[in-house]
Amino acid sequence: MKAAGNTTSRLRGLRREIEYHNYHYHVLDEPKISDSMFDQLMNQLISLERDHPHLQTSDSPTQRVGGQPLSGFDEVVHAVPMLSLSNAFSDEQVRAFDQRCQEMLEVALITYLVEPKLDGLAVSLRYESGILVRAATRGDGNRGEDVTQNVRTIRSIPLRLMGKRHPSVLEVRGEVYLPREGFNRLNDRQRSRNEKEYVNPRNAAAGSLRQLDPAITAQRPLEFFCHSLGTREGGSSRTGHAETLVQLQSWGLRTNPQNETVQGIESCLIAYQRLLETRDKLPYEIDGVVYKVNGLAEQARLGSIARAPRWALAHKFPAEEALTFVRGIDIQVGRTGALTPVARLEPVFVGGVTVSNATLHNHDEIRRLDVRVGDQVVIRRAGDVIPELVSVVTRERLANAAAYEFPKHCPACGADVIADEGGVVIRCSAGLICKAQLSELIKHFASRKAMDIEGLGSKLVKQLVDNNVIDDVADLYQLDVNALEALDRMGNKSATNLIASIDRSRQTTLARFIFGLGIPHVGESTAERLALSFGSVEALSNADAAEVERVPDVGPAISSSIATFFAQDRHRKVIQRLRDGGVEWARPSAQAVRKTALAGKTVVITGALKTMSRSEARQRLQDLGVRVTSSVSAKTTYLLAGTDPGTKLDKASALGVQVIDEEEFIKLLG
Ligand code: IVH
Repeated sequence: MKAAGNTTSRLRGLRREIEYHNYHYHVLDEPKISDSMFDQLMNQLISLERDHPHLQTSDSPTQRVGGQPLSGFDEVVHAVPMLSLSNAFSDEQVRAFDQRCQEMLEVALITYLVEPKLDGLAVSLRYESGILVRAATRGDGNRGEDVTQNVRTIRSIPLRLMGKRHPSVLEVRGEVYLPREGFNRLNDRQRSRNEKEYVNPRNAAAGSLRQLDPAITAQRPLEFFCHSLGTREGGSSRTGHAETLVQLQSWGLRTNPQNETVQGIESCLIAYQRLLETRDKLPYEIDGVVYKVNGLAEQARLGSIARAPRWALAHKFPAEEALTFVRGIDIQVGRTGALTPVARLEPVFVGGVTVSNATLHNHDEIRRLDVRVGDQVVIRRAGDVIPELVSVVTRERLANAAAYEFPKHCPACGADVIADEGGVVIRCSAGLICKAQLSELIKHFASRKAMDIEGLGSKLVKQLVDNNVIDDVADLYQLDVNALEALDRMGNKSATNLIASIDRSRQTTLARFIFGLGIPHVGESTAERLALSFGSVEALSNADAAEVERVPDVGPAISSSIATFFAQDRHRKVIQRLRDGGVEWARPSAQAVRKTALAGKTVVITGALKTMSRSEARQRLQDLGVRVTSSVSAKTTYLLAGTDPGTKLDKASALGVQVIDEEEFIKLLG
C-alpha cells in the first residue's frame, strides 16, 4: 500500500516538474534546464508510467500524442459564440470607433489593450476542473470541429492548468499558428518529398490542425497565444481584459508579450505604427493590430452588433499588393545552371519596402502569367518573402507588346539550354564550363554558411573566373598574394587579407563542406543531418539510396541528387584536391552519429529478448531519440522481433516493415 502511495506521489511530482519546465520553455520562452535534462525527466516518467499502467492519467505530459487516427471530426457547439472583429483600414476609421465608444460610455479617455492580430486560426479550449477536455475550431462561430487530439500535441497549450484558484469551467480562446521558421522547414520538407508546398503559414497551420492523424500534427511546430475568454464558471473575475490575460498566463496559458495597455486612441495608433515597422522581425506573421476596450464592465455596456463586439476593432495593415510596370525580363543563371527569369520593375512601395525586381520562377510561370515587357502588373510582398508577380492587367496592355520568348541559349555562355525535371527547369548545358554557373558555385562555396571565406565577394569571384585565374573551387586553395595582386583594384593589403581568410576556411566542419559542394536540393540543415549520419564524405559518396533516405527528412529527390553528384568523376576529383589543399574537419563524434541515424525513427518491440528486458530495449532506443510505439503501422521503421513474436510480425510483413532480430538490433545500438 505504502509503495503504491510513493509511486503515486513520485508520478505526481515528476508530472508537475515537467509541466513547470514546459511552461518555462513554451509559454515564457525562458527554459530553466537543458533539453537533455528535460528528456531525462520525460524518460523517467515514461518508464514509471509503463511499469504502473493503472496510474496513467490523460493529462500526463506523456499523453500528448496518444490518440488513434480519426475518420472525421465531431461537431462542437460553442457555449458562447466565437465572434469575429470589425475591420478598419485607416486612422479615420479607428478614430471614429473610439468616438463611438466614448459617446456610449460617456468618458473622455479610454484604456485600450493593443494586441498583434495573429494570422493563424482561432480555437476554443475548454478546461473543466483545470483539465483540458475539449478543443474546437471556430467553424461558423456557432459550431466548430472537435480537434482535441491534435491540440493536445501543441506544447504551449497546457493539458492541465497551473496553480489552484482556476475556475471550475474555463473556455479560453486564442490563435493557433505556425511560426515562420516552422513554416519554412515544413515547406522544405514538402519540396524534398515532391509534395505540394503550403501557400502561407495560415494555410499550413490550418492544414496541420485538421489532420486526422494526430501523429502528423505532432510533427508540426504549432504554437498558441490566447487572446480572449469564452466562459468561466467559478473563480473570481477581474476588472479588465489586461488583468484577465495576466491571470490566464498565471494558469499556464501563453499570452503575447507584444500586448500593450495604452491610454487613448492616439497611443493605439502609435503602437500600430511600431508593430507595422517591426512585424518582419516577429517570428510569426501578423496581418494587423487589435484594439480592445480594457474594462470588462465597459465591454458589457458596449455589447455586440451582428457577429462582432462593439468594444474591439481590428486595424489591418496596408495591402501588400501594388500595381507597377515591367521594364524588362532578365535571365539569371544559377549555380546548377537553372535559368531563372526575373522581372525588372518600375520601383514601387509595397508592404513597407521599395521593390524593383520580382522573381518569375521559370518559363512555365512566364507562360502562365503571359507577362510581357511593358505590362502593368500586380506585385505582392508578404512578410519577408521575395516579391512575386501575381497577375498581369491585360486590359492595359499595349497592342504591340510581344509575347516573351524564352532564350534557347544560355545568356552567359551561349551554350544550348536543356529542359529537365519534367520540363519545368531550363538549364544551361555547359556545366561548370559556363562562367556564370561557376561564379555562382564559388559564391555559394565561399558563403557564410558554407566555407565562410570573408572578403570573397561577387565582383571578385567574377574577376577570378572571367580572367581564368580559377577553374573550380579547389583552385581557391592554390591562390597566392601575387596572383590576386594582378587583378584590377586589388592592393597588397586586400590580397593578403583574402589569402588569410581562405587559409582560415581550411579548418571547417563536414556539414559546412557538404553544404558548400552545392549539391542540388542539399540545404544547410540537410547537410548537417548527412554529416552526422555518415561522418565522412567517403561514406556519403558510397552510400546507396536506401541508406541516404534513412536520414530524417531526406526523400528520393535529395538522394537521387546526391547520387548524381557523386557519380561524376569531376566532383570526386575536386573533393580530393580540396582535401589535398588542406581543407579538413573534425570527425563528428560516434555517439552523435549513431544518435541521429536513429533519431526520429519509429520502432515496435515484440516477443521476448535474450540479452535485455523489453523495457531496457525501449529505454536504450528512446535515449537515441527513437519513438517506441506499441502497434505496427506503415510508419514503423523497424519491428524488433524477439522469440514468440505473435501477430505483430504478420502485420509487419503485410505492411512491408523491416523486421530485425536481436543481433541486428544490438548492432544498431552500437
Ligand atoms: S479577439 C470577440 N484578439 O481574428 C473577439 N482575435 O477577425 C474575439 N485574431 O477569429 C477575437 N489575433 O481568430 C482577437 N489578438 C487577437 C487576435 C484575434 C487574431 C483572430 C481571431 C478571430 C479573428 C477575428
